[in-house]
Amino acid sequence: MHKNKSYFIETYGCQMNEEDSEKLAGLLKGLGYTNTQDVNLADVIIFNTCCVREHAELKVYGNVGRLKKLKEKRPEIIIAVCGCMMQQKGVPEIIMKKFPFVDIVFGTHNIHRFPELLQNALQSNSTIIEVWNEEGEIIEGINIERQSSIKAFVTIMYGCNNFCTYCIVPYTRGRERSRKPEAIINEIKDLANKGYKEITLLGQNVNSYGKDLEDMSFSKLLRMVNEVEGIERIRFMTSHPKDLTDDVIEAIRDCEKICEHIHLPVQSGSTNILKKMNRKYSKEQYLELVDKIKKNIKGVALTTDIIVGFPGETEEDFKETLDLVSKVEYDSAFTFIYSKRKGTPAAEYEDQIPDDVKHERFNRLVELVNRICERKNMEYKDKIVEVLVEGPSKTDKTKITGRTRTGKLVHFTAPNINISEGELVNVKITEPQNFILFGEFENKIR
Ligand code: 5AD
Ligand code: SF4
Repeated sequence: MHKNKSYFIETYGCQMNEEDSEKLAGLLKGLGYTNTQDVNLADVIIFNTCCVREHAELKVYGNVGRLKKLKEKRPEIIIAVCGCMMQQKGVPEIIMKKFPFVDIVFGTHNIHRFPELLQNALQSNSTIIEVWNEEGEIIEGINIERQSSIKAFVTIMYGCNNFCTYCIVPYTRGRERSRKPEAIINEIKDLANKGYKEITLLGQNVNSYGKDLEDMSFSKLLRMVNEVEGIERIRFMTSHPKDLTDDVIEAIRDCEKICEHIHLPVQSGSTNILKKMNRKYSKEQYLELVDKIKKNIKGVALTTDIIVGFPGETEEDFKETLDLVSKVEYDSAFTFIYSKRKGTPAAEYEDQIPDDVKHERFNRLVELVNRICERKNMEYKDKIVEVLVEGPSKTDKTKITGRTRTGKLVHFTAPNINISEGELVNVKITEPQNFILFGEFENKIR
């Protein structure tokens, strides 16, 4: 055991990485380490990296580089770099060459091996590198040290089989593998016993959950999770439009705990670009799906991911995207400028879009997305919404913060009323703004 020793973890990228970091935290806690928010005091420093866009990668190189001085001052500390970047060919070598003071390099498939790698590093002066190319078995039973005590991410499947032509994820996270439903349900029951109220089921493409298991599907899993007592809300991400089938829409409609929010990345509104992206749906098919969702799930909020400046994107293609965004009326959208990822097909396409054109389109898209988002939020004025309380607001201690079932952030006042995190309350929205809905406490639900 390592009494009085502490760890610091910096996480880049998606919820998958966040969950991996929570696993690493759990493993370190098991070894007796405690968490610190101050990198200068830590005995073990971990950078969990992302490579989905170039920007994320550059940030990692910059921040790892900055640790050199710390390591010179305190040579006994252990610096580890892990995550998606390490799964890319040549990256561990770059880390070793540029940052020889790094002690451990490992990948996404062998997180569970960290305690052993740490032990080895503590006994050795050279860099320990262990990156697995193959996925290996799903490892169950790692204690997860979660950041929140009311909301939890639960990974239901790993990897991706879709090979969208811009995306590096299938190369860094491997093929799709579903966790067994019993393992998932047991984890969620355990979370419910510990007082957790909200579960987000995670996977690169949750709709293909169970295809590698017998007699299992995502909609069946949703219905099973809905039965777990104590859990109030169920969310899931990410959905691939090509796999979001009627049975899933019906499960969302029927199960009272499943929130009316679907994150449904469209990536582009141009059928031509969607084809080049290998997304396997057309603009029309996507719009039909959105129609079906809106008809079946009352009050549903839709959010999305959009890439601008994919190779070959013409002004006409881009206008198709703007048109689709206006038609769907997303509650919010993550917008990205296309970033060339080495090893993906699109990086080799010759018709790359100049940076100034990409930026100009990006600004136009963001402007439209924000305008729609603002309009959608205004619809909340004077409405009463159910909020799951997360605690006092960080920016204004006189307010309490939480989210609606549709995922909107709410700050509300509740003078002289005792409200704890994890409670469900009704809030009257008095002042909706672009990114926050302000309101007043109405009554407790439970
Ligand atoms: N360039 C820009 N955005 C990308 N995404 C994935 N790969 C790239 C890339 N090469 C975006 C997609 C995906 C989100 C997680 O990141 O929109 O849905
Ligand atoms: Fe990447 Fe496409 Fe898989 Fe999503 S579905 S992780 S965008 S390859």
